[in-house]
Amino acid sequence: LNAHAPKRPRILSGMRPTGRLHLGNYLGALQNWVALQDSSENLHMVADWHALTTDYEHVDQLAPNTIEMVTDWLAAGIDPEKSPVFIQSHVKEHAELHLLFSMLVTTSRLERNPTVKEQVRDLELEDTVSYGHLGYPVLQAADILLYKAHLVPVGEDQVPHVEITREIARKFNSLYGEVFPVPAARLTHFPRVPGLDGKRMSKSMGNTILLSDEPEVIAAKVKTAYTDPKKIRVNDPGNPDGCVIFAYHRAFNGGAASAIEAACRAGTLGCVADKKDLAAILAEKLAPIREKRRELEAHPERVREALAHGEERARAIARETMREVREAMRLA
Ligand code: TRP
Repeated sequence: LNAHAPKRPRILSGMRPTGRLHLGNYLGALQNWVALQDSSENLHMVADWHALTTDYEHVDQLAPNTIEMVTDWLAAGIDPEKSPVFIQSHVKEHAELHLLFSMLVTTSRLERNPTVKEQVRDLELEDTVSYGHLGYPVLQAADILLYKAHLVPVGEDQVPHVEITREIARKFNSLYGEVFPVPAARLTHFPRVPGLDGKRMSKSMGNTILLSDEPEVIAAKVKTAYTDPKKIRVNDPGNPDGCVIFAYHRAFNGGAASAIEAACRAGTLGCVADKKDLAAILAEKLAPIREKRRELEAHPERVREALAHGEERARAIARETMREVREAMRLA
């Protein structure tokens, strides 16, 4: 039994400030954050220090991207009164805890992290990976444990970082006394969302549909989406496995998905009509988010106030945890 468990589990989640969010961000994390905000105590962090691991040369976009992203969080239904939103770099305790945790993990442990390995390979950083990039899972452990979170709702690529977080929590507790709960990752139903081209949806790939896209933009993008290449004429039977349109039907039009699958396989539903239907459904499902976003754009002070207020609440928790940490480590 976990002595730290309060009545409602606490959640800490973070996203790098990448600007306006896309369906992959929504289905992979944000939708879950919104769903969990009544049953748990959620804190949502803009991971701006994490963004520096790969983008330390391009700092001009950090502030505008933060505002765009947090606007989407609130537009999608995050209630900042219930769930504080804040910027990592404004709560300096993250840096202090990161430094202390960095003593509790070996460099070879960090070099084995499959997500970091994949990034290093993709970005061709084999001989030039920075100390900060290699160590960002330790910073992430500090992000999570500073708030004594029990659950971390993330996509599957983040699970190795939560594993390191668990190891650090156990090691700290056994060396200095029980301070931290051992948190668990919580995957969403759609941990991997395809982009328009069928590869993973990602801003850098240019294959996204944004939460804020207008209906005409959605329709134009959906037209270009990858479908079964063997289905050429309207009445050819199709295979919805691997079809991007079908993946989005499952996510946004779940109730109708099995009928659509059957019609596609039977050759009674053509891709052009299917895309038109999906575009209309997406436009409708995203309408409340677009509407809320317009309202927030007219009142940008609401986003700034939410961040200022969230920061205060986050800082109060962070201060208290660091007081316990320093005392446990005889640094008080
Ligand atoms: N590393 C995460 C990402 O790249 C962002 C992140 C930073 C995070 N700190 C976190 C996620 C703490 C969950 C919990 O998406």
